[in-house]
Amino acid sequence: MCNQQNLVLANARLVSMENGENGYTVTQPLTITLQDGKIHSVSNSVPSADAQNTNVFDCKNKLVTPGFIDSHTHLVFAGNRAQEFEQRIKGVSYEQIAKQGGGIVSTVKATRDASEDQLVENTLPILDGLLRTGVTSVEIKSGYGLTLDDELKMLRAAKALENHRRVKVSTTLLAAHTTPPEYKNDPDSYIDLVCKEIIPTVAELSLADAVDVFCESIGFSIEQTERVFETAKQFGLNVKGHVEQLSNLGGAELVAKYHGLSADHIEYLSHQGVQALAKSNSVATLLPGAFYFLKETQLPPIEQLRSQNVPMALATDFNPGTSPFADLTMMMNMGCTLFGLTPEEALRGVTCHAAKALGLGSSRGQIKQGYEADLAIWNIDHPAELSYQIGVPRLTARIVDGELCHD
Ligand code: NIG
Ligand code: FE
Repeated sequence: MCNQQNLVLANARLVSMENGENGYTVTQPLTITLQDGKIHSVSNSVPSADAQNTNVFDCKNKLVTPGFIDSHTHLVFAGNRAQEFEQRIKGVSYEQIAKQGGGIVSTVKATRDASEDQLVENTLPILDGLLRTGVTSVEIKSGYGLTLDDELKMLRAAKALENHRRVKVSTTLLAAHTTPPEYKNDPDSYIDLVCKEIIPTVAELSLADAVDVFCESIGFSIEQTERVFETAKQFGLNVKGHVEQLSNLGGAELVAKYHGLSADHIEYLSHQGVQALAKSNSVATLLPGAFYFLKETQLPPIEQLRSQNVPMALATDFNPGTSPFADLTMMMNMGCTLFGLTPEEALRGVTCHAAKALGLGSSRGQIKQGYEADLAIWNIDHPAELSYQIGVPRLTARIVDGELCHD
């Protein structure tokens, strides 16, 4: 339920996540005025309760952060892969399962059989999990359709979620997720389809904000990835990549070459890859849920990314095969415990740096005048608590476009 008036938040202790040291400092209780979906002002003054058309919400000294942004998910799909999880626990690897025709392809079969409405219905409970952890924006990829119609269906279902919940959805075309069974022995012809039909149609219908590729031995080669990136750019779409997840193919350098928004996973990222990302000002997106669930051991080069000032985003990668975790604060905890991020870096990873990974760094992800009024109010004392606990409900309310949502 959302309330649609100009909103004033009183007694709000802010963690603005603006650039610079102060971004992570908790302020004294302040007043934030939200107008027309934007942050209008932040001040010391006591709000005037009688101002017209204005609702005052007393935050009672709770912490207010930017609304969380989950910048990498595969939220829309049908079926589940619990049996594959059982196989993996008994020792069969993710790659082996994929090579035997399971993995992504098994979700493709179920997703092709589902209607757009069924996909929306399947996704809502997962989305609700994310919203309970303070999410106000979510990126959702296609990639389980792998035909023109099924990819369009997935992207439409993703966008339709905005009609069911107060959340902002960015969509990414991931038609180059894996080679579909009907092109099994001819992946280049499938890439033809992606470049000649799927990208042009998706661009014309404005159904995606970016284009992604799974650049990996069980995904697509560097040459195939480059064809997709080139085509995406021709159609005015930004690119990003699933790169260096299971091996190093140099996908991050390719993302950098095309000034991609982000290079994601990157456990096997090389030193040259780090430098390329630093130069192109792309975001490094860390996905500790998949690392944990696949019991990976190769750690992403956090110290190098840190020293080269590459912004690091942190996301759930929610998907049925490698990261079935609809909890962004759990990823903050894993980012700290598994990857060695500081709680401040973890919070930047789900706010300002996540916004940048979606190309929205100048309008979302910080509490700053003129930015979109997407906020989360937390019943905690210090922002490190967000990375510290898992499973303890601490969210008081979300605010999306200046509207208070008690969901
Ligand atoms: O981000 N790496 C490729 N894609 C997904 C996994 C998708 C799946 O297994 O269904 C990921 O981990
Ligand atoms: Fe992913």
